Amino acid sequence: MSIRTVFGCCLVLLLASPALAARDEQSSIEVWKSPTCDCCGKWVKHLEDNGFAVKVNNARSSTLQQIKRQAGIEKKIASCHTAMVGGYVIEGHVPAADIERLVKEHPDAVGLTVPKMPIGSPGMEHPSGETEPYDVLLVKKDGSVEVFARH
Ligand code: CU
Ligand code: CU
Repeated sequence: MSIRTVFGCCLVLLLASPALAARDEQSSIEVWKSPTCDCCGKWVKHLEDNGFAVKVNNARSSTLQQIKRQAGIEKKIASCHTAMVGGYVIEGHVPAADIERLVKEHPDAVGLTVPKMPIGSPGMEHPSGETEPYDVLLVKKDGSVEVFARH
């Protein structure tokens, strides 16, 4: 092994570790989804493409319902998958940029939801490129919601 190889290797480690540590703190997200849900998998890919470290848990439908209930996500604002990041609940196809904004602004709230599964939201892209407008809702601790972002 040449000196240059050793130096090159250590340099990479030195440069990489602070970045990895920062990423761990800010962008680790844990997702619960059905093992057979295609759009859930695509949303996970969207998060990874935007720098999130994603831990995926496959769960059966009854477990998912229970997780949503316990997380404070009522049926009428529910979607397919449920995730947790920095103490917040993320329900459905919420864009990565909105999750980053939530964590940064740190409001006193339960989290974000995109109810149902709007066409064109991350993970719900239509082959034709068709989209429908949708809102990302901020879920408050009293169960009420307000618009966090419009897309
Ligand atoms: Cu979905
Ligand atoms: Cu999903």
